[in-house]
Amino acid sequence: MERELALEFARVTEAAALAAACWVGKGDKEAADDAAVTAMRVMFDTVSVDGLVVIGEGEMDEAPMLYIGERVGMGVLPQVDIAVDPLEGTNIVAKGLTGAIAVLAVAPRGSLLHAPDMYMDKIAVGPECKGRVFLEAPVKDNLREVARALDKLISEVTLVTLDRPRHEGIIEEARRAGARIKLISDGDVSPGVAAAYQNSGVDILMGIGGAPEGVITAAALKCLGGDFQARLYPEGPEAADEIKRCREMGIDDVNKVFTIDELAQSDDVIFVATGITDSFLLKGVRYFKRRAVTQTLVMRSTSGTIRHIEADHNLDKKPLFKDQRIKLNNF
Ligand code: FBP
Repeated sequence: MERELALEFARVTEAAALAAACWVGKGDKEAADDAAVTAMRVMFDTVSVDGLVVIGEGEMDEAPMLYIGERVGMGVLPQVDIAVDPLEGTNIVAKGLTGAIAVLAVAPRGSLLHAPDMYMDKIAVGPECKGRVFLEAPVKDNLREVARALDKLISEVTLVTLDRPRHEGIIEEARRAGARIKLISDGDVSPGVAAAYQNSGVDILMGIGGAPEGVITAAALKCLGGDFQARLYPEGPEAADEIKRCREMGIDDVNKVFTIDELAQSDDVIFVATGITDSFLLKGVRYFKRRAVTQTLVMRSTSGTIRHIEADHNLDKKPLFKDQRIKLNNF
């Protein structure tokens, strides 16, 4: 993929973040998500790719835009798979909490895992810990390995996991091992990626979250040289249906532990994320005098370049927002 594409995609997540950010704290996660999805969808039309959404807002019959299988972009080469989450952390935005981002990952056609919207058990670490942690290993063993790899005491290692009853076991084991734990209310992409960032305050992410978010995190860690392993987690009354959907998407063995290279098969991956609210990775959107400042992370696995783009947007000159094509609440 041409390197200029990475910057074209940065405009896409910037637009989604700007649209969602107006909804921070307003208690309406659907409106926030709608705004992000609409903005992202409109911006995709300006990007020079023939894109196929493989991770998106849901199946064709349940999402009006950015559904799995939708074609996006200008319809010109290269042919790419696109994984999108226009608003990762809908509750976060509704409640005005930390950790919401607009995010997407792009790779050559056929190289991102097609996964239905279901749960996935995940483990994410940075480059130093690659090959030293395992999804199926006891929590204490993984924490010990992270400590050794990072030259820390276990009491200095920080594990992030979603604050859910299903993670009681992980939390208890990690506490017994003496690790630090940050429990997050939502949004496991940003800490998963941050695990590969020195000084982010995150050393390892573990636990069960969304499968779409897992594929996106794997793509990011591919750019950063980190490690990610995951297993799909069919659950509850939907389990039989989820297993059927997996088979339809080409996943025959739902119990398989996927490596990072199976989740993102290409070495040519682009990952882009813009902060909506402050997170482990990025600052959220800030406003002043009809302007808004965004922070975007742009990475390409081919070059290994990691760019942080701070953009200062004149909202009066942005057609998307000026013409009220996006419902921006009190704008
Ligand atoms: P949404 O942005 O779709 O609301 O997802 C947020 C999220 O917290 C993900 O980051 C995470 O992977 C998943 O939901 C966890 O699901 P659940 O809230 O059902 O535990």
